[in-house]
Amino acid sequence: MFGRVKSLDAILATAQKKSLHRTLGWFQLTLLGIGCVIGTGIFVLTAVGAQKAGPGLMLAFAIAGAVCIVAALCYAEIASMIPVAGSAYTYSYATIGEFFAWTVGWALIMEYAIAASAVSVGWSGYFSGTILNQFLGIQLPAWLSAGPLAFGGAEGGLINLPALLIALLVTALLVIGTSESAKFNAVLVLIKVTALTVFIALTFTSDEFEAGKFNPFLPAGVFGGFGTGLGAVGAAATMFFAYVGFDAVSTAAEETKNPQRNVPIGLVGSLLFCTVFYILVAAGAIGTLGGQPIMGAVGVPLEAGSAELARQCAMPEHAEALVCSNEALAHVLRTIGFSGVGNMLGIAAFLALPSVILVLIFGQTRIFFVMSRDGLLPEVLSKVHPRFRTPHVVTMITGCAVAIAAAFFPVGQLADISNAGTLYAFLMVAVAVMMLRRTDPGRARSFRVPAVWIIAPLTIAGCLFLFLNLPSAAMLFLPGWTIIGLFVYFLYSRSRSHLGRGIVEVVDDVAGEETMLPIHPPKGS
Ligand code: ALA
Repeated sequence: MFGRVKSLDAILATAQKKSLHRTLGWFQLTLLGIGCVIGTGIFVLTAVGAQKAGPGLMLAFAIAGAVCIVAALCYAEIASMIPVAGSAYTYSYATIGEFFAWTVGWALIMEYAIAASAVSVGWSGYFSGTILNQFLGIQLPAWLSAGPLAFGGAEGGLINLPALLIALLVTALLVIGTSESAKFNAVLVLIKVTALTVFIALTFTSDEFEAGKFNPFLPAGVFGGFGTGLGAVGAAATMFFAYVGFDAVSTAAEETKNPQRNVPIGLVGSLLFCTVFYILVAAGAIGTLGGQPIMGAVGVPLEAGSAELARQCAMPEHAEALVCSNEALAHVLRTIGFSGVGNMLGIAAFLALPSVILVLIFGQTRIFFVMSRDGLLPEVLSKVHPRFRTPHVVTMITGCAVAIAAAFFPVGQLADISNAGTLYAFLMVAVAVMMLRRTDPGRARSFRVPAVWIIAPLTIAGCLFLFLNLPSAAMLFLPGWTIIGLFVYFLYSRSRSHLGRGIVEVVDDVAGEETMLPIHPPKGS
């Protein structure tokens, strides 16, 4: 069961063949990181995080950022050794073996898809609030702007139509082969960073900003209890979502000049930048509007996305509450008297969030693609469109799943479920880094984690800790999904695995060349 480890040499054969030019410096890497990272987490989930932790949201950003920074270092080392598509799945295949690689790949499929759903729902909030409501004067009925499903009772909608449509639109773009150019990414980063900088400047200098609004700082405590998703660490487990996407930077290690220096600067730099930025944004929002959670009868915050919270938010006394807004940051600016700038910020989110959805669905399809090329999933999934040269089948399946989840679930709960899968993948990457240091110490690593025997265990501990502080429903989703995955693995994949049948097939790019390295003839040939 644990014997099927893919040869690193076989994996690297393709990468060497492809030999990308080393063109990226630390600045481009940082831009790439910020482009993938800043999205729904800060623009929308700020309201969800405040509902879980109150002003302790700032602490939550710091905790989640710290876990991501150590995880990013582990990612960077392994990506610099195995710079091929498939990310944590491929890394696990080359170290821990097929079975665990399967579980990681299966978790990543869920992570990326559900993250894309979460960002779609986040986009929907800004589209309905800013574009439809503020500019066109159209108030989308509640039944068309929220989904009917949620743990703890739904918000009372029927379908989140804008979220469904944006997910399908981005899918269509991916099918015809749209990818984001570096220049386009730089423009979007500029838009996002400008919007957030203006937000910080206006809130910190506003007359509404009062130190008293940070009091009590931790209305739900630091630790709300495992499985509750409450308190500063519960909020950290949710706000972790705001950092997801940085692995795109580590997978660019192969294209980086002087990676030993530039990869850690790019990764840690973009994460540190985001952490500081996020904390300042949270401080600006809470300092002006206040960010106390709406408490239930037993004195604990009501569950984000729940029916009861939606009922409370509909009451006039909560009309301005940060925790009730679907477009948190624009809402803050409008409420403190900057309607025009608030709308501009809404437009910035409206423009920038689809590119995050695009990167996430793209990432998901590549995992699917690599797994299918390894024989673990049906080959029809890795079919490439004759004209567009994209894996259209898997992209369309993914896009429909993303759209359906986005149509029916609230953003915070989608983010939590996605985080569960991501945390598992990060944990396995840290395990893989340590294993490779033992099993293959001599292999070239263009970046080495400093103090790996401290950083990698810290990553594992941090991921476990955040995982245990997710709401229990999100936590249970991962084992549930994994059990389905195990059925698929044992009933389908295991017997069809190319590695198990004696061929290692390596493809690291959809359009790239394929290398077949027969280790020994497949059985029966
Ligand atoms: N980090 C990305 C976001 O917050 C996924 O939207």
